[in-house]
Amino acid sequence: METVLSLKNVSKNIKGRPIIKNISFEVKRGQIYGFLGPNGAGKTMTLRMIVGLIRPSSGSIEICGVNTRKDFVRAMSNVGCIIENPELYEYLTGRDNLELLRKMEPDIPQSRIEDVVELVGLTLRINDKVGTYSLGMKQRLGIAQALMKGPELLILDEPTNGLDPAGIKEFRSLVKSLSKDQGMTIFVSSHLLSEIQMICDEVAIILHGKIIKTSKVIDLTIDQKITWQVTNVQKAMKLLLDDFGIEAVKETEETLSAFTDDFRLTAINSAMMSSDIGLKYVFKKQKSLEDLFMELTGGETIG
Ligand SMILES: Nc1ncnc2c1ncn2[C@@H]1O[C@H](COP(=O)(O)OP(=O)(O)O)[C@@H](O)[C@H]1O
Ligand SMILES: [Mg+2]
Repeated sequence: METVLSLKNVSKNIKGRPIIKNISFEVKRGQIYGFLGPNGAGKTMTLRMIVGLIRPSSGSIEICGVNTRKDFVRAMSNVGCIIENPELYEYLTGRDNLELLRKMEPDIPQSRIEDVVELVGLTLRINDKVGTYSLGMKQRLGIAQALMKGPELLILDEPTNGLDPAGIKEFRSLVKSLSKDQGMTIFVSSHLLSEIQMICDEVAIILHGKIIKTSKVIDLTIDQKITWQVTNVQKAMKLLLDDFGIEAVKETEETLSAFTDDFRLTAINSAMMSSDIGLKYVFKKQKSLEDLFMELTGGETIG
C-alpha cells in the first residue's frame, strides 16, 4: 500500500526544551489514522510541523513521497487541514467563504464548491451567514474548505472538541464516508480513546512528545471486561471455556465476567442464546485512555 504521510525521526526543540522526541510513523492511502494523546502530549505541535506552520528541529516529513522541506509547495498541494479551529468569516455566507478560497486558488473549478458542499452535507444552509451556524456546521464548512483543492490527505486536529453529541455523531459519519466513498486518507488527532476506536483503523499514541505505540485499532480494543447476567452461570462458564477457551469468573449467583474483544463477544452472545442460556444483560467496561496508558507505560501517570 502506498504511503501518504511519513514522519521519520522528527524532533522539535523550543528554546532548548525537547517537545517532540524522535517520532516516526507512516499513514497509508485510504486509512483513517488516529493520533492519540492527552493534552500537552504534542499532537498540535506535530500537526503544525506536518503542514509546515513550524519547522522540525530534525528528521523528515514526506507527503505523497514529497519531502516537505525540499518541495514545500508540491507537498502541501496534497494536504487539506484544520489545525485547532477552521478560519471562517462569520458575517459571510458559507458559500461566500468557499468562493473566497476558490478565488485564491485559481485552478479550482467553480463546480468544486457544489461538490464539497454536498460531500459535507451543508446544501440546505450554504447560503446562510456562518454566524448563524452551529459549531458542528462550522466544523463541516471547515472540512469543505479543506477539501476544496481535492487533497489526498485530510488533517484534523481534535475535530470534535466542543461539539455536542449529535455533532460528534455527524462528524463521525462524515469522516467515514469521506474515507469509504472518496477514498480519502484522514489523519485525525484526539485525546479520547473511545473516539479513535470508533473511527480509526490505526493509531499512533503520543505521550510527553514520544510515540509510545503504533497499532491497529482492533488490536487495542481486545480484552475488554464483559459482564453477563444470565439464568445459568455454571452453564455459561462451561460454554465460554469449552467453545471459546475463555476462563470466566463467577461474580454473583447471576453474573459472570471475562475478558474478550467485540468480535468474539457477538459470537459468545449468540452461542449462549442458542444453548438456552437466558441472557438478561451484557455490560462492557470501556477501556479509558488512562487504563490504556497504565498498560502501555506500566503505571506512569499521564497528567
Ligand atoms: N509555542 C510554544 N512554545 C513553547 N512550548 C510550546 C508551544 N506550544 C506548545 N508548547 C508546549 O508543547 C507541548 C505540546 O503541546 P501541544 O502540541 O499543543 O499538545 P497537544 O496538542 O497534544 O495538547 C506542551 O507541553 C506545550 O506546553
Ligand atoms: Mg492540541
